[in-house]
Amino acid sequence: MTDRRQTLVSARPPGFQYRETRHGIFHRRREHVLHSEEVALPRLAEKYGTPLYVYSAATIRQRYQEFDDAFDGIPHTICYSVKANSNLSILRLLARKGCGFDVVSGGELERVLTADRKAARRVVFSGVGKTREELTAALKAGILLFNVESESELWTLAECAGKLRTTAPIAFRVNPDVAAETHPYISTGLHKHKFGVPITEARKLYAKASGVRYLRVRGVSVHIGSQITDAEPFGEAMTRVAGLVDELRYDDHHIDLVDAGGGLGIPYNQSDAQSFRAQAEAYAKAVKAPLGELDVRLLLEPGRSIIGPAGVLLASVVYKKANNGKRFVIVDAAMNDLIRPALYGAHHEIVPVTESAEEEPEVETTDIVGPVCETGDFFARDRQLPFVEEGNLLAILDTGAYGMVLASNYNTRPRPAEVLVDGKSVKVIRRREKVADLLRSEL
Ligand code: LLP
Repeated sequence: MTDRRQTLVSARPPGFQYRETRHGIFHRRREHVLHSEEVALPRLAEKYGTPLYVYSAATIRQRYQEFDDAFDGIPHTICYSVKANSNLSILRLLARKGCGFDVVSGGELERVLTADRKAARRVVFSGVGKTREELTAALKAGILLFNVESESELWTLAECAGKLRTTAPIAFRVNPDVAAETHPYISTGLHKHKFGVPITEARKLYAKASGVRYLRVRGVSVHIGSQITDAEPFGEAMTRVAGLVDELRYDDHHIDLVDAGGGLGIPYNQSDAQSFRAQAEAYAKAVKAPLGELDVRLLLEPGRSIIGPAGVLLASVVYKKANNGKRFVIVDAAMNDLIRPALYGAHHEIVPVTESAEEEPEVETTDIVGPVCETGDFFARDRQLPFVEEGNLLAILDTGAYGMVLASNYNTRPRPAEVLVDGKSVKVIRRREKVADLLRSEL
């Protein structure tokens, strides 16, 4: 279901045992209080303040493992998409599991190298506007693969590699012209989108690249979009890629890598819940099937599906008000901390951190909004929420991906702190910004 349509579906009834069924034990209620692993969330709010991003390390590890298991039987490398959540501690946690990385900027590359210099060998570099500086930095780092998105980029890369007397391993990111049901801002696999080179022109481009001294053709890459919950379009894109690999081999290119991109969606609505293992398996089946006997190493770039459900954003209720009967719960988090609802109309479940002990707690229909001066600054509209009071804590769920990375300082709001829970242990992985931090770089 698309994010857009999800916004129309109201929250499930209160009083449910959050995540018992969906994600094992990692965010659950104990004595009516929401926990991240062994740690009660009110304790974290008290100690570190709100708004606060809280991540569960066990969830990240488990999802990485389940994703990896789903591709058993085919040589593969998972290149976690750094853009989803680029905190160094999270990159380090994944690097320790042997994970590779998908980066889209020199900054992301630097993060990966800071987290684990040796991970460079498992880095793929995507993006339509890589600059000379970025290409050069990646060549120096010795990354696994450049996903080239235009002929101009190809010649620029060759030039940069020539200057360094090195060889750039390349794939073209092909645009397969496959439609996937998701929000239009994050769909990428159609010809009208800016991404990749048309698959119909790929053969010509590979021919141009093959004679070039400082380039080494290694693979084909594709990415059709994000938050795609249906496996079929992934299979369709791979079918086209597999056809191209056949043609390229016929043309005598050496192709040993196929990069399937990212994009596997997560159920933001509790009612759509299913086990991640089953979901990853269905996805893997769709991606693997068209490859048949091609004998390639498969690269995968999941972001959201690994980190999304591992995070919650904690916020405190600052005020409640009603304008002509329309109710508002005003929290201390805002669109600058989590922009997904404002930008994509995205649905996130929102629950009180401490649930009422009553059998049938009172529920109200309310908007949940932030303090930023825009009507677009909302987390939920006309949502059924168990009755909360000023000072209570709310948890905005599934905010591990595209939460903190998209945070800004709009309204001169310092960005939240981030903590990583691992069993009983709690680590601050990013301290809360101060207004002084924001003023420091201004002259
Ligand atoms: N690979 C490439 C080339 C990508 O462009 C992306 C995401 C990924 C991998 C990872 O996709 P994932 O597995 O996370 O779906 N800000 C939006 C999502 C933007 C996705 C951009 N590209 C959101 O909050 O929904």
